Amino acid sequence: MGQNSAAIPILSVVFLLVIMSSGFSTGYMPVVIVHGIFDSSVQMQDLNDMITKAHPGTNVTIPDLFTDAESLIVPLWSQLPKFRDAIEKVMATSGDGINLICYSQGGILCRALLANMTNHNVINFISLSSPQLGQFGDTSYVPFLPQLKEDVYKVCYTQTGQDHISVCNYWNDPHHKKEYLAENVFLPVLNNETFNSQSKVWKDNFLKIKKLILIGGPDDGVITPWQSSHFGFYNENEDVIEMHKQEVFLRDSFGLQTLYNRGAIKMYNISGVEHTKWHGNQTVFDCCIEPYLT
Ligand SMILES: *[C@@H]1O[C@H](CO)[C@@H](O)[C@H](O)[C@H]1NC(C)=O
Ligand SMILES: *[C@@H]1O[C@H](CO)[C@@H](O)[C@H](O)[C@H]1NC(C)=O
Ligand SMILES: *[C@@H]1O[C@H](CO)[C@@H](O)[C@H](O)[C@H]1NC(C)=O
Ligand SMILES: *[C@@H]1O[C@H](CO)[C@@H](O)[C@H](O)[C@H]1NC(C)=O
Ligand SMILES: *[C@@H]1O[C@H](CO)[C@@H](O)[C@H](O)[C@H]1NC(C)=O
Repeated sequence: MGQNSAAIPILSVVFLLVIMSSGFSTGYMPVVIVHGIFDSSVQMQDLNDMITKAHPGTNVTIPDLFTDAESLIVPLWSQLPKFRDAIEKVMATSGDGINLICYSQGGILCRALLANMTNHNVINFISLSSPQLGQFGDTSYVPFLPQLKEDVYKVCYTQTGQDHISVCNYWNDPHHKKEYLAENVFLPVLNNETFNSQSKVWKDNFLKIKKLILIGGPDDGVITPWQSSHFGFYNENEDVIEMHKQEVFLRDSFGLQTLYNRGAIKMYNISGVEHTKWHGNQTVFDCCIEPYLT
């Protein structure tokens, strides 16, 4: 009898400690931020600061994986497993789920991660100025690639390009669709533009998110066309075709149309923000990121 009555308060203390250490005390879901090309957690610190100021106590994780130059020279499929391990660790601590903010190149890497992770619990996927349907523009910031966008396919649509330059994994030359489909091992596969035996599983996994938030704008200066951040892209005349008229949307080949019909896609077209400023802009954070982190 005496033993039992002493055990009850001890058990409650242990229980409370377990609850507190697992992060329940803050009420905010953990956030994982996936950095962009040539970045690391250093550049994402401004975003981290805005999150913890708005939502004190939020557990924010910014995996320092494939940082700086490594983000360019390691192809995206090879970056995926380590990011997956890091994100799964955070997911395991939060039964309510986590939110994912992925910047620039990180945004298509995250789309692949969401397709790959069969038991993910990502609630909101915030794609911050990411080339979701690819890139066809200035490459002056990328070593090893021709400066002229018309010539880039010659390097990118080869095995060497695909194996050694991450940008090649989402290089989408509208004048060389055939080579894109045949040689690009990442974006057309992820999009199920070419036959992919896993497409059904990947789509089901992707569709486990609650909301897809697409943030981009006309003054970005790097993502080209900037509408790629909204799942728009060039046709062969370099006219931009918006998301709703894209074949991958019409075929619902990886879940975009399903999400749209569910009312789960939020698009933000914001002027006045250059590419490297997205993660540090308080106005952008307040309008388009903070509301999805509660
Ligand atoms: C956030 O969660 C991760 C994963 O559980 C943990 O390793 C880390 O220590 C936590 N960070 C803080 C500041 O609580
Ligand atoms: C996820 O990726 C790993 C390789 O990292 C692969 O072995 C596995 O089959 C993939 N799972 C799915 C569902 O795509
Ligand atoms: C992927 O594309 C193939 C045709 O190439 C189609 O048969 C399949 O249903 C598509 N998968 C999904 C999930 O839409
Ligand atoms: C985005 O905003 C710009 C500037 O306000 C405007 O010119 C453009 O038409 C908008 N585009 C879309 C797709 O809403
Ligand atoms: C921040 O974003 C707003 C639009 O929301 C824009 O007008 C402003 O120029 C941006 N500031 C910077 C420094 O990028």
